[in-house]
Parts: sequence; structure tokens; C-alpha cells
Amino acid sequence: MAAFTVVRDNAASLAHWRRILDDPTTTIRTVTVGGEIAGSVSCYVDEEFAGPEVTYWIGREFWGRGIATAALREFLRYVTTRPLYARAAKDNTGSLRVLDRCGFVITGEDQGHSDIRGCEVEELILELTT
Ligand SMILES: CC(C)(COP(=O)(O)OP(=O)(O)OC[C@H]1O[C@@H](n2cnc3c(N)ncnc32)[C@H](O)[C@@H]1OP(=O)(O)O)[C@@H](O)C(=O)NCCC(=O)NCCS
Repeated sequence: MAAFTVVRDNAASLAHWRRILDDPTTTIRTVTVGGEIAGSVSCYVDEEFAGPEVTYWIGREFWGRGIATAALREFLRYVTTRPLYARAAKDNTGSLRVLDRCGFVITGEDQGHSDIRGCEVEELILELTT
């Protein structure tokens, strides 16, 4: 579903997470459901982009239960910077639905090479102003 990510082995994945957790410009929260870790929501600054962006991942076994929507809503009460941006592949319907329900509106389009899909992917840029 997500286009702009890479597959990493465990060591590379841990190193990646260490870098994220050490980055003072990133805010990250673990999503838990009944005491179990279900995923994460975070906000990071991409220097090539207009402003801070949110992103989220939920474990497959937790999909379709409104967890991403609830987690992002809660996160947006904590991270109050506005405008806040998000990007999603045009075909990532679930993610676009989560963003729409949390008040993000589509403001632009972009495209880029997706390593994980091995092709060019069109994406939507969304903005939250309230
Ligand atoms: C996208 C993602 C976060 C959604 O998590 P979730 O907890 O299932 O989301 P929610 O249940 O809050 O809402 C998803 C909505 O999209 C819908 N949806 C999900 N996948 C869909 C699909 N392939 N086609 C159409 N609708 C879809 C769900 O039915 C739901 O809508 P509904 O409540 O009206 O039925 C999750 O699938 C995920 O982590 N994917 C991999 C990482 C990713 O894509 N992250 C976002 C990068 S931009």
C-alpha cells in the first residue's frame, strides 16, 4: 500500500528506527490496542518539503477496525503544529480515507520512484490547517 518505503532486514530496520528515535525533529508515538503494540504514528520534517508531515503504520492484523483513524486523531491533539502535511500514494485508499476523516484536504499531486514497487508512483499531497 505504502509506496515510499524500503524493505530492510532486522539490523537495518533497527538502525533506521534508532536514527528516527534520535532525531529531535521527529515526534513518534506507539499505537497500542488492549496493551498490544499495533503500530506507530509520527511526524517528521523532510527538508525538501514544505513542512512537517505525518505518517503511520498499523500491523495488518489490526486493519479495518478504525485504529489508524483513532490513533491519528489522538496524535493531532498532541501535535498542534499547523499546517501539517501528509502524502499518500493515489491508490492507497485506506490511508486517504484515514486522512480525510481526520480533516486533511488534498492540495496537490506529485510523483516519484517507488523502490518497493519498482516503478513511478503518483501520490497526493494533503494539508491540515485546523
Ligand atoms: C493505511 C492504514 C494505516 C489503515 O489502517 P486501519 O487501522 O485499517 O485504518 P482505519 O480502520 O482507521 O480506516 C481505514 C479505512 O479505509 C478503508 N480501506 C482500507 N483499505 C482499503 C482498500 N484497499 N480499499 C478501500 N478502502 C479501504 C477501510 O474500510 C476503512 O474505511 P471504513 O471505516 O469507512 O470502512 C493501514 O492499512 C497500514 O498501516 N497500511 C500500511 C502502511 C501505510 O500505507 N501507511 C500510510 C502511508 S501514507
